[in-house]
Amino acid sequence: MTGAGASALAPGALGAAAEQKEKPIRIAVIGTGFRAWAHLAILKSLPDYQVIALADPTPENLDRAATLAPGAKTYSDYRRLLAEQKDLDAVLVVTPNFLHAEPTIAAFERGLAVLCEKPMATTVEDANRMIAASRKARKPLYIGFQKRLVPITRKMKELVDAGEIGKLLLVTGNLFRGDWNPKSWKYTDPKTGVSTNWRYLTFTAGSALLEDGVHEIDSLHWMINDRVVRVMAAGGNNVYKDRETADHIATIVEYASGAKLSFELCLFGQNSGPAARRMVLIGSEGVMAPEDGKVAIRKRNGKGVRYVEVTRDAPKAATQGTVGSAQDAETYKQFLLFADTVRTGKPPLVDPEAAKAAIKLVLLAEKSWREHRVLTWDDLPA
Ligand SMILES: NC(=O)c1ccc[n+]([C@@H]2O[C@H](COP(=O)([O-])OP(=O)(O)OC[C@H]3O[C@@H](n4cnc5c(N)ncnc54)[C@H](O)[C@@H]3O)[C@@H](O)[C@H]2O)c1
Repeated sequence: MTGAGASALAPGALGAAAEQKEKPIRIAVIGTGFRAWAHLAILKSLPDYQVIALADPTPENLDRAATLAPGAKTYSDYRRLLAEQKDLDAVLVVTPNFLHAEPTIAAFERGLAVLCEKPMATTVEDANRMIAASRKARKPLYIGFQKRLVPITRKMKELVDAGEIGKLLLVTGNLFRGDWNPKSWKYTDPKTGVSTNWRYLTFTAGSALLEDGVHEIDSLHWMINDRVVRVMAAGGNNVYKDRETADHIATIVEYASGAKLSFELCLFGQNSGPAARRMVLIGSEGVMAPEDGKVAIRKRNGKGVRYVEVTRDAPKAATQGTVGSAQDAETYKQFLLFADTVRTGKPPLVDPEAAKAAIKLVLLAEKSWREHRVLTWDDLPA
């Protein structure tokens, strides 16, 4: 399927970065909305980074970001930033989804490393252009799937790969949440002048599942690590009728081995309690799921349950509340890993080809429910 293990970079391509070892990585942030503010709070606490420039066309968002990155030069246009800032090492792309590819490719053309938020892009073609630009520049492309770093998810992957529940046959999960942030940036249609929350439009978000749920689908797909044969989905707008993007979607993926993945996203599922996020893995020999912060394993022919402890390896600053919520612990770790990748040439934690596979799966699901048909992996470009 996905090339989940290998790097998109030639071995040793980044060896020269090692000489930066002790110096902070000079980074620019492109797109300074809600997510970037959280990133800037983390970056401020990390000596590995120096934020030297910020770009965003929305003045109030840029101003707020500037308070979180004292000394950084601000720009309304990222192209000017890239043209003027000669001392950059890396760029952090935190724009709305349809604007991930363009600044990423422009940064590679400047010879910079890129950490780009998920989802990688809104089309497979854009993802391919990003990978090609990374290879040409011989600089790493790190996609922000920080949920791959959640300790319990990593432990489950380790246990699955060690054969704890036999051959993986069915993985299932869900994300039931409330509606999108109403303060998200508004896209203004150049033809009509109408401004719309970018998360409501297919063109700007890609799809609802691409905007959220893609993390979970990536993790479930990573567990199975097999070739996708068919994708089918049903979705629509049962509650929020004011937008193009769906408010619920149910997806089924069939793999070459016969394994299946099923996943549901619902945006009118606020207050779902413990049912809001679920991940269950069923193998030929048992069932595995998170339970009270541990991994619970129940063997098909056994009695009772075995709990596997999970080590919380969150960095100190993240656990001490310096950077906020538990989710930020993974984003914090992601910045440490990105720094290591930039300095040593180590491949990114998530191979860009695997990040591309996750969006391709989700885009196939979107196409399937829109067109009311079952699709194969080849129904979108390689
Ligand atoms: N990894 C995660 O868990 C996670 C969480 C939240 C958001 N995200 C991702 O982060 C990205 C941004 O989300 P957000 O919540 O910050 O959105 P947001 O609407 O709060 O902010 C988007 C920002 O992009 C700016 N922008 C628009 N056009 C631009 C351009 N041409 N150049 C530079 N900036 C431009 C807007 O002015 C706005 O400030 C999205 O891709 C989203 O999927 C990831």
